[in-house]
Amino acid sequence: MPAIEITAFFDLANLYMCEILADLHQTAFANTDQSGWSAADFQTMSDNPHVHHFTLLKDHKPVGIIAYSLVLDEAEILTFAIALKQQSQGLGQYLLEFSLDALKQKGGKNIFLEVKANNDRALNLYTKMGFKTIDTRKNYYTDSNGIKSDAIIMRF
Ligand SMILES: CC(C)(COP(=O)(O)OP(=O)(O)OC[C@H]1O[C@@H](n2cnc3c(N)ncnc32)[C@H](O)[C@@H]1OP(=O)(O)O)[C@@H](O)C(=O)NCCC(=O)NCCS
Repeated sequence: MPAIEITAFFDLANLYMCEILADLHQTAFANTDQSGWSAADFQTMSDNPHVHHFTLLKDHKPVGIIAYSLVLDEAEILTFAIALKQQSQGLGQYLLEFSLDALKQKGGKNIFLEVKANNDRALNLYTKMGFKTIDTRKNYYTDSNGIKSDAIIMRF
């Protein structure tokens, strides 16, 4: 039985920690048409006092990350990913449910996120958790081939 833990104490001011998270994030997005974040992207989050994250550990190794901002009662999920080899085993749902509970406890009442319109896995999970589509941003994303896709804005 693997040991599953969620921690908020992964230090993003520490470059080594950020490199680990960037590696996980880039493998998570490997089979998608989106790119994962760099270590510098993660380190930037440590500069913003409104941005927080949870890391999901499986047998003490980081396999999932969710980052969010919380200002007063408004929260936004900034990124959310499970390492490629660990996907579709229930870990994403576990991390998201934990995070939504934590956000509610911290006073988050309106929780928003943005997801690429062709990201069926993520859309399925968000819909299952109770997020509703509130808006669509046409041609918001442009991939490396210049192909544009919409962004779906969801609210919990
Ligand atoms: C989206 C993501 C975080 C989901 O995490 P996960 O651990 O793979 O998901 P879970 O195993 O917890 O599955 C939960 C739900 O997600 C959806 N889902 C998961 N895998 C799916 C698949 N292969 N196809 C369609 N829906 C899927 C289903 O609704 C599933 O519920 P169900 O098992 O009752 O059908 C993960 O797939 C991921 O990291 N993807 C790449 C990065 C990404 O797209 N992040 C989101 C950006 S907005």
